[in-house]
Amino acid sequence: MKKEILVADKTYWIGYIDNRNVPFHRLILEKGTTYNSYLLKTEKPTVIDTVDISFGRQFIESLSEYINPQEIEYIVINHVEPDHSGGLPLLANKAKNAVIVTTELGAKELKDMYKLHNREFIIVKDGDTLDIGGKTLKFFETPYLHTEETMITYCVEDKALYSCDIFSSHVATYDLFNDLSKDDITPDFEGYYKLIMHPHRPYVQDMIKKVRKLDINLIAPSHGYILRENVKTFIDIYDEKSKPVGKNKKALIIYSTMTGNTKKIANYLSIGLNEKDIDVELINVKTDIDMKKIKESIEKSDLILFGSSTRYGDIVGGIEEILKEIKHMNLSSKLAIAFGSYGWSGEAIEVINDYLKDTNMNVIESSYMIKTTGMNDIMLPIRVKFNPSENDIENLKHTARTIGDLLIG
Ligand SMILES: Cc1cc2nc3c(=O)[nH]c(=O)nc-3n(C[C@H](O)[C@H](O)[C@H](O)COP(=O)(O)O)c2cc1C
Ligand SMILES: [Fe+2]
Ligand SMILES: [Fe+2]
Repeated sequence: MKKEILVADKTYWIGYIDNRNVPFHRLILEKGTTYNSYLLKTEKPTVIDTVDISFGRQFIESLSEYINPQEIEYIVINHVEPDHSGGLPLLANKAKNAVIVTTELGAKELKDMYKLHNREFIIVKDGDTLDIGGKTLKFFETPYLHTEETMITYCVEDKALYSCDIFSSHVATYDLFNDLSKDDITPDFEGYYKLIMHPHRPYVQDMIKKVRKLDINLIAPSHGYILRENVKTFIDIYDEKSKPVGKNKKALIIYSTMTGNTKKIANYLSIGLNEKDIDVELINVKTDIDMKKIKESIEKSDLILFGSSTRYGDIVGGIEEILKEIKHMNLSSKLAIAFGSYGWSGEAIEVINDYLKDTNMNVIESSYMIKTTGMNDIMLPIRVKFNPSENDIENLKHTARTIGDLLIG
């Protein structure tokens, strides 16, 4: 048997240490990483998270040194990404009766990814608990840390937080506890935060609020060091680094409209930005344009949203005149987004986007959001069919809040 690693009472590390310099999220992990999985050998034995998809066989071997996998009753999956759920297909196969515990979206994704449609799942929501015979697990949803379906698991009796990607570090360490490390682990811990968590900093703040209410002695994440010394310091690092820094940010929403639908979009975007304390100026451009005043407004804004509805395949009102003019301005520090209401094709929105790309502004599109945050529910440029529906209104406000976070982050 390998050296036993006891994490808490009756709780064992059954992970895998990966010394390879593997590519991960457009970086090479120079120091490798670990995939930490935990076995809570209670009356209803429970596994929390698994290992990377490449090491399923080794994972089952490690687990089998502590328990016959058939005895496992619960498999908690905090996060679906295959560096943690990758051992699930093999484990589910060995632990035939084990119930999989995860979030609603997590269950949906796991079923699709590993063909587990016939498995029993327990869907948990924020604050739900599960008795595993001698220990109580409590779950908290932590969306986008690292992907949308993610949650964390707290063991009440051990005051232990199983945080998956959160509070991790990418180091293939054999000294799994932070107090055993000869080096200061802070640079690795902060480097990981910057790469994986910082793009989702508003969600980090939401998570911190939940975690602050818990009495925590130990944080057992799914990569790198298990934190059992100075635990609060590591929570404070996340809190400090994810606080919004940009104050007094300004946005300009400039648009033209025929029947008021694009004006409604502008107003809902304004509401979402205001919720993030961003000052918004709205300009409805008709035909008589005060170009000097408009240029002044553009210069003092950090974010500019240009909108128009589509009329016979084209932009309406005087927006195009402004778009031609701004090509000659230096707007390199500014973010820009195109939007508009349309009926069936919405050419104006795309033409505006082309104009914006011809300036030196940073034009925000869906592709940018996916690459920087992994969020694929923000559709940019913003296109709304006719009059915004209830669903459109919610989306518009959500989009504006997300863009707002980008601006103040
Ligand atoms: C005269 C006219 C022409 C239109 N041409 C187009 C078009 O070419 N493509 C399209 O997607 N929608 C077209 N529409 C639909 C409008 O873009 C749609 O009604 C939109 O909601 C109007 O927004 P607004 O109230 O902000 O002007 C047209 C509407 C009108 C009245
Ligand atoms: Fe992840
Ligand atoms: Fe991960």
